[in-house]
Amino acid sequence: MADKVEPTIVVHGGAWAIPDALAAASKEGVQNAAKRGYGVLHSGGSALDAVEAAVCVLEDDPAFDAGYGAVLNSLGEIELDAVIMEGSELKAGAIAAVQNIKNPVKLARLVMEKTHHCLIVGKGANMFAKEMGIEEVPPETLLTDSSKAEWEHYKKYQKTVSDLFRTRGSESSNSHDTVGAVAVDAQGNVACATSTGGITAKRVGRVGDSPIIGSGAYCDNAYGAVSTTGHGEAIVKVTLARHVLFLMEQGLSPQAAAQKAIEHMFQRVNGTGGLIVVNNKGEIGFYSNTERMAWASLQSSTLQFGLEPGEKIVQEYTPE
Ligand code: GLY
Repeated sequence: MADKVEPTIVVHGGAWAIPDALAAASKEGVQNAAKRGYGVLHSGGSALDAVEAAVCVLEDDPAFDAGYGAVLNSLGEIELDAVIMEGSELKAGAIAAVQNIKNPVKLARLVMEKTHHCLIVGKGANMFAKEMGIEEVPPETLLTDSSKAEWEHYKKYQKTVSDLFRTRGSESSNSHDTVGAVAVDAQGNVACATSTGGITAKRVGRVGDSPIIGSGAYCDNAYGAVSTTGHGEAIVKVTLARHVLFLMEQGLSPQAAAQKAIEHMFQRVNGTGGLIVVNNKGEIGFYSNTERMAWASLQSSTLQFGLEPGEKIVQEYTPE
């Protein structure tokens, strides 16, 4: 087991050209999630409990593409993907293309803890939720005016995935993406979780990177924990989350690994997105090559957050 470390959490509310109308809510939402997750760590809770709690806050916040507020598929329906993982035994659970579930990250954790599987999809995921006593919510309770408007827009203009993800400096695409959290607790255990509605107007049954272990998230106590956001098809092709840990194994700092992994994805598959990372000592990193990415971190009473490239606001925070 690692030496005692300073408990640390980092969260993201997704890459992309987050529209101005959602900018303030995104910044506030990631701070709320970091505070909730840090509260768990501060009271002696595990990294795993902290990332689950933080992601639940983001799933419940309509500013983000996950849970309530998730974007809609080509039929105008919500299909949700989520993953959670812990770094001591590499236990992981994920669900994909699930409907009518308020907090997909909780269902992913039950897959990890109550089954012999790592990933359950669609109808099977909903059947498993019933078995576990997880309430199914009416689909309309997860819909927001903004997700409906975005769906109408993309249906009307027949946008494609590559139209949706833009790098800095190219034409703005008003949308938002995936949420996630990474944490290390006082025992040096790391954990990560990622949750998403995917991409607006995606094919029915399309699954992106988020629930794919090694792409949407990965962690190992030997190095740290990663959660990603962005163009799922690109992220899967370079197994982005595992690639960050590979770079850290080679000796890069979390920040250097974050940047290098995103640059690698851009060079190899023209991919855009972002990620957050924490190592097993509590050092953090975050990077995106999209116009914006909402993120926040909390460690030793220091709250940091940002949205614009290079933006880092630092505030003192006293846990309740
Ligand atoms: N990153 C979310 C997705 O592509 O589904």
